Formats: sequence, structure tokens, C-alpha cells
Amino acid sequence: MTGQRKTRAQFGSKFGVFAAAAGSAIGLGNIWKFPYITGVYGGAAFLFVYLGFILAIGLPVMLSELVIGRRSRRNAFGAFNKLAPGSPWRFIGSFGVAAAFLILSFYGVVAGWSIKYIFFSLSNTFDGFSPLQIAETFDAFVADPGKPLLYQIIFMILTGAIVILGVHNGIESFSKVLMPILLIIILILDIRAVTLHGAGEGLRFLFHPDFSKLTFEGVLSALGHAFFSLSLGMGTLITYGSYVNKQNNLINIAVQVTVADTVVAILAGIAIFPAVFAFHIEPDGGVGLIFKTLPNVFIQMPGGVIFSVLFFILLTIAALTSAISILEVVVAYFVEELKLHRRSATIIATSLITLLGIICSLSLGIYSNVQVFNKTIFDLLDFISANILLPLGGMFIALFIGWFFGKFRVMREVAQGGSLKGWFLTVFMNLVRFVAPIAIFIVFLNGLKILDAVMALFKR
Ligand code: PHE
Repeated sequence: MTGQRKTRAQFGSKFGVFAAAAGSAIGLGNIWKFPYITGVYGGAAFLFVYLGFILAIGLPVMLSELVIGRRSRRNAFGAFNKLAPGSPWRFIGSFGVAAAFLILSFYGVVAGWSIKYIFFSLSNTFDGFSPLQIAETFDAFVADPGKPLLYQIIFMILTGAIVILGVHNGIESFSKVLMPILLIIILILDIRAVTLHGAGEGLRFLFHPDFSKLTFEGVLSALGHAFFSLSLGMGTLITYGSYVNKQNNLINIAVQVTVADTVVAILAGIAIFPAVFAFHIEPDGGVGLIFKTLPNVFIQMPGGVIFSVLFFILLTIAALTSAISILEVVVAYFVEELKLHRRSATIIATSLITLLGIICSLSLGIYSNVQVFNKTIFDLLDFISANILLPLGGMFIALFIGWFFGKFRVMREVAQGGSLKGWFLTVFMNLVRFVAPIAIFIVFLNGLKILDAVMALFKR
């Protein structure tokens, strides 16, 4: 340093920005949650609605986050403080940092299970097991007071180790290597799945539009999932956006990441359902689809050990590149607002989140009797973050850009001296001013179950 202001970290290349942001978006949400909810809510019918939300709400909110990040060059909290000094808007950032804590604590637990399943697969543990035995093995494992913690801690150390290396040498470098590996693995699994005898039924389950199954609840979960899957609403992309240099085109980044996230979700569905149906197995819901149903499939499949190992490596990689983006939200906040060194910030953040995660993991076993609002701590963290913090954060981010930041500053930041097509700005501004906040508000009410109560009143 030659006495100038210390320059802030930046991503090095266009591909690096894409790999990091796509790495954040593509995670546990794509690989176990998306295939399952798509099946439940009517296959292609759900997909259709989900794509609508992605385009009308996800994409504009993503662009908004990138604009806020690059304009301010700050962490999620500091960004609002810089762009709207002293105003209440900065609480959006506090929400984000809080959400990051909560999400990563249970995310780390599930990612730990995924690491354990790589070892289960390598040693062919489930060979000869009945579906019931496989389910019992999973249930006993997650309820164990020691073993899941070990794998969760391993996962959190990996996450911290990448983040400690910094934006360029850690996050960007690892994403650039891991994301292509992820793509190759998922394509291998897809080819395996669709070439199984009887795969067609699974593809039909996934792609056949059955609008009768598309309930109001399904529409709302499509919107909620769009947020979770695209990593929106808590400042992940504000933080990553703050490392994007001025030459990169923010619209391109937002479009590419959205497309990549959606394509990988669909590819995950193609890897899972044809295989499940080919072996006449009833698909289980949620966490169970991956950890209970799939092992049944793998033990019957030719070459199952290899594909099973590959699958859980895929899941672990997807979780890791998402987890680093969540941790970075907290670390960037600690570094810039609390003036800590990156090293200590990462160690403190990782330790605190791991501790919370340990409580969360134990809440599935020895602490399962500790319930708040009728939920275990694990379910509670999931519920609060996905149903309350993310939608609320996303709504305020859209409102901030639409009503405070305004059209001209958006244009200046996105166009960087060039110009933007008039229709684009008009459409974008209407989406962030009206469409996104109103739609998100509806989901938010649903998340709190207020909407159910209101509907019940009308039904009386
Ligand atoms: N998008 C990630 C997934 O699909 C999860 C995530 C949510 C990451 C919020 C960052 C912020 O699994």
C-alpha cells in the first residue's frame, strides 16, 4: 500500500463473479427441495408458476441487490447506511445479517448429513437394507447426540476455511473450480437416470402439468422458494455485488445466475424422479426424499455405489458454495462495521454459527422436547428465516430501490455511462415498486399463517 486508501476486495473475472453468485444460488434448495415441491404441486403446472415468479420478482430483486451492493461497496448493513444515511432503511441490513446467522446454522447441519452420506455410500452401508431399515438408520443418525455434530463441524470448518482466504483467493477461486464439477456430476446423474428402464414415468411426474394439484398454497410456496433458491432477501447478493467491478454488466449477471439456478433445479429433478419411479419407489417428501428414498434407489441401481457417492458429493458441493456466501454476509459485516480483521471475523462468525447449529442439531434428538410455538429449534430456525426474514427483506429491498433509490440512480449504476432501453427501466421500476412488494407481502402473511385465518373467516 502506498499510503492510499486500502482498496476493497473485488472479484477478478466475469466467470468468477458468475461462479460465485451461481454457487450461492445453487444449493440444498435446488437439489432436494425443488424436485419435491414440484412433484407435490402438480409438476409442470408448478414449474410454470415458479418461472413466472422468478422472472417477475426474483430477477428484479436480484438486480436490485446487485445495484445496492455495487453502488455502495459495503456489506449488507453498511450499504443502506451509506446510500440512505441515518435512515431506518439500514434495518433491512440488520435483518439480513440476522437471517444469515439463522439460515447457516441449520444449513450446516443438513450439509453435515450430506458429508456423512458420502461415507455411507463409499462403504455401501445400505446394501441389503429394507426401506424401513434405511429410514431408521437416518432417524437414528440425526438424533444421535454426537455423530451429526462431528460432520456439521467439519462442514463449517470447510466453509470458514474458504471464507478466511478472502473474496478473490477463497470464494471466487473455489467457486470457479467447484461449479464446473457440480455441473459435470449432475449431468452424469441425469444420463444415468433417464437411461434406466421405466424412467419415463418419473419424467411425466415432473413435467406433466396437473393444474388440479396446484393449490393456492402451491403458488405461495413457489414464490417463497424463488427467494430461497436465488439467495435473495438477506443481502447475499448485496455483499457479492459490492465486489463486482464497474466493467461487469449487472443485468447479464442477474440473468445468467437466474437461468443457471433454474436449469440446475430442473436437472436435479431429472436426476431424481426417473430413478425413483424406475424402481417403483414412492417418493418421500422433504429431507426424506434425499436421505431416505434415494438410498433405496441406489442400492438397486447398476453402479449404484458410484452414483450414490457422486450424488452426495454433488449435494455437499452445492451446499458449500451456498454456505460461503451466507457466511460472507456476516464476515463482511463484522469486518466493516465492527472493524475486525477478516481472520478474526471469520473465526468468530463461524464459531457462533456452529454453536447455534449444534443446538439446532441436538433439537432433533436429545432436545426434541424443547419446543417453541410447537416446533423444534431446527424447524423454528427454518421457519423464521425462510418464511419471515427472507420475504420481508426482499420486500424492503424492492421498496428501497423502487421508492427511495429511484430510476435515475438505477440507470446510472447499471448503465455506467452508457444508456439503458427506456422500456426496460419502466418495466423494472414497476416490478420493484408494485408487483414484487405486493406479491411478497401476500407470501409473508401466508408464512405467518395470518392469511389462513383470514380465509377461514371468509369460509364461515
Ligand atoms: N440459495 C441457496 C439454496 O438454494 C440457499 C441460500 C439462501 C443461500 C439464502 C444464500 C442465501 O440452497
